[in-house]
Amino acid sequence: FSLKAMNTLGFDAVAERFVQIQSPGEVEELHAELKRSGDPLLLIGGGSNLVLAAQIPGIVAQLTIRGCEIETMDQDLVRVTLGGGENWHATVSSLLDQGIYGLENLALIPGNVGAAPVQNIGAYGVEVKDRIEAVEVYDWQEERVYWLDNQACEFGYRDSRFKREGGRYLILRVSFLLSRTPATVTTYAPLNTELSPNEQKDPRAVYRTVCRTRRDKLPDPEQIGNAGSFFKNPVVSQADYERLKAAYPGLVAYPDRAGFKLAAGWLIDHCGWKGRQMGNVGVHDRQALVLVNLGGGDRGQLERLAGAIQADVRETYGVELEPEPKFYP
Ligand code: EPU
Repeated sequence: FSLKAMNTLGFDAVAERFVQIQSPGEVEELHAELKRSGDPLLLIGGGSNLVLAAQIPGIVAQLTIRGCEIETMDQDLVRVTLGGGENWHATVSSLLDQGIYGLENLALIPGNVGAAPVQNIGAYGVEVKDRIEAVEVYDWQEERVYWLDNQACEFGYRDSRFKREGGRYLILRVSFLLSRTPATVTTYAPLNTELSPNEQKDPRAVYRTVCRTRRDKLPDPEQIGNAGSFFKNPVVSQADYERLKAAYPGLVAYPDRAGFKLAAGWLIDHCGWKGRQMGNVGVHDRQALVLVNLGGGDRGQLERLAGAIQADVRETYGVELEPEPKFYP
């Protein structure tokens, strides 16, 4: 079974077996079968943060649990419970149409609702952890379905318990606390630079600007295979930041709890990588943090390119870049 259409890098991966899971009941059936066969399992949502090898052993299961339940908590607060298989962007956009606000900064992120908590997707000053109330999981260890509240998800920057304890949980549904009163976050450029103070209060204007900026900088996976940002933005100490800033005054960085978060795109760009190609893969010409499949690329080629970039950034700035997507197997 070809997974080419199921990973946004567009790699030609072939799965031994592929199944779809439409309900929690089917998860239990799958579990029973895996226990019998001992096969490895890869769970796939939108496949937008995944680097696949050419041959995928065992079973690949795609979660297609649907559903969108909206509960009014009070005048303002709304609880929205979504099936893990719902498309992320379609959901963001439909909630906005219904006057339910809070996810507008996260427009156009590829993938499904069930994948959002795993790497705590984030953009333009908002992380999905800021809006999640709880996550419903099937726990492969305990063999039961239950809800983990926000705290129990142990969210971090592009990180969560689901990512760290990879393979233990399968995400069935996610509940969000959103609002009928606009409360926009416009601390990040270009939201605070391109919008007037009045527009900054309007979630629809924020949504439009986020969509325009993303379309401008990030390649559409339908046209050019990619997995979004390929590296995390590295966090360095105050001392390292000051050393780098003195040597490279143009350096882009944001204060972070542990020190300073450096824009990895800037580091890579200023080593001259933007737009470069290696075989059938390359560095996107409008955002150096995004690696692209130019057609016919594979995991080996991508790893060589990523390795060359990491080595260059290490040598130039003494900073280690950590890949963001998951490699499987
Ligand atoms: N920059 C360059 N050259 C480049 C790319 C970036 O100089 O080639 C500079 C930009 O000018 C800007 C800074 O680096 O001053 C940051 O760039 P950008 O605003 O594009 O954001 P980012 O830090 O590269 C992060 C997320 C994105 C998210 C954007 C917007 C990570 C790893 N990436 O990128 O998330 O959309 O912020 O908030 O945190 C993803 O995770 O897949 C992703 C796309």
